Amino acid sequence: MILSIESSCDDSSIAITSIKTKKVLFSKKLSQESYHDKYGGVVPELASRLHLKFLPNILEDCLEFLDDIKAVAVTTTPGLKVSLVEGIAMAKAISISKDIPLIEVNHLIGHIYSLFIEKQVTLPLTVLLVSGGHTELMEVNSLNDIKTIGKTIDDSFGESFDKVSKMLGLGYPGGPIVERYAKGGDENRFDFPVPLRQSPDIMFSYSGLKNAVRLAIQKLEKQNKQDQMDISASFQKSATRHITMKLKKYLKSTDIKRFAIVGGASANQYLIGKIKVLLDEFGNIELLTPKLGYCSDNAQMIGRVAIEMLLCDKNRSI
Ligand code: KG4
Ligand code: ZN
Repeated sequence: MILSIESSCDDSSIAITSIKTKKVLFSKKLSQESYHDKYGGVVPELASRLHLKFLPNILEDCLEFLDDIKAVAVTTTPGLKVSLVEGIAMAKAISISKDIPLIEVNHLIGHIYSLFIEKQVTLPLTVLLVSGGHTELMEVNSLNDIKTIGKTIDDSFGESFDKVSKMLGLGYPGGPIVERYAKGGDENRFDFPVPLRQSPDIMFSYSGLKNAVRLAIQKLEKQNKQDQMDISASFQKSATRHITMKLKKYLKSTDIKRFAIVGGASANQYLIGKIKVLLDEFGNIELLTPKLGYCSDNAQMIGRVAIEMLLCDKNRSI
C-alpha cells in the first residue's frame, strides 16, 4: 500500500491506495473552506496552522494500515509554500521512521491522474486543467511527456470565480456559489468582454474580465439578488466563452480523439456543457472528467500518480 498526502492549498487530505489493485482503501479530507470564508480567499498562514492540526488528526484514523505501507507520497509543488511544508514534514517523518521511499508528486500531474483513480491509465490525452491556481491546456503523452500548449498569463479560471464572488459579497470558494447564482440569472444583461478575443495565441487571461465585473458592480449603486445572479451569469458566459474560443483554435490545428477537463473548476456543469458542444462540432472526440469528488484537491490523485512513478522507476524497489 502507498500512503499519500495532499496539503498544497486549503484541503488537508490523506489516502491509502493498494499498489497492486489501485483500489483506494482509505481516504479522508478535512476542508478548511469555512475557516477562510470570512476573508474571501485562502489565508496562507491560517491554512498552514490548520494543516498542522488536521493532518495528524486524519493520520490517527488510518493507523491500522501503517504496518503495510511500502511508500509514502506527498505533493511538493506547486502550491502555497507554508501549506506544502506541513504535508512534506509529515511524509518525511513517516518515510524516515518506517524506512520506506518518499515520492515527491507534482500537484498538476495529480489533477491529471485524478481521471485514473481506481482505474487503468489511458493515454494520450489532451487535458484542460482549471483550478484555483491554474488554467492550462496540456498534451499528455505519458507521465514524463507532458507538453503545455497554453496557460494563463494572470489569474486562473477558478480564481476569477472566487474574486467575482468576493466582489458580490457571496463567500468562498466562489466557483460553486457563482455557478449556482448564474442559474437564476440573465447571461445577456451585462456585456462583459471575452478576454484575448483578437489574439491568435492559445493563452488565457482573466484579470481584464475581473476588472470589467468590478466596474459593473460599482455602477450599480446597490445590488439586489437578481443583479448578483445576472452578473454571475454574464461573467460565467464570458469566462467560459474565452476557454471555448481558445479550444476551438487548438482543435482546428489537431486531430485528437480524447479530451479531459480536470481541477476544482471542472465541477462547473456550464463549462462542461459548452465544451461538450464544441467537441461534438469536431466529430467524435471523447470527453473525460474526474468523478465529482475527485475534481478538487485530494490525496487519492497524489497516490495514483505515485503508483505510476513507482511502476515506471525500475531502479526503485519497494
Ligand atoms: O483544484 P482545486 O481544489 O484547488 C487548486 O488546485 O487550486 O480548485 C479550487 C478552485 C477554486 O478556485 C474554486 O472556486 C474553483 O476551483 N471551483 C469552481 C467550481 N467549483 C470549484 N469554479 C467554477 N465553477 C465551479 N463549480
Ligand atoms: Zn488543485
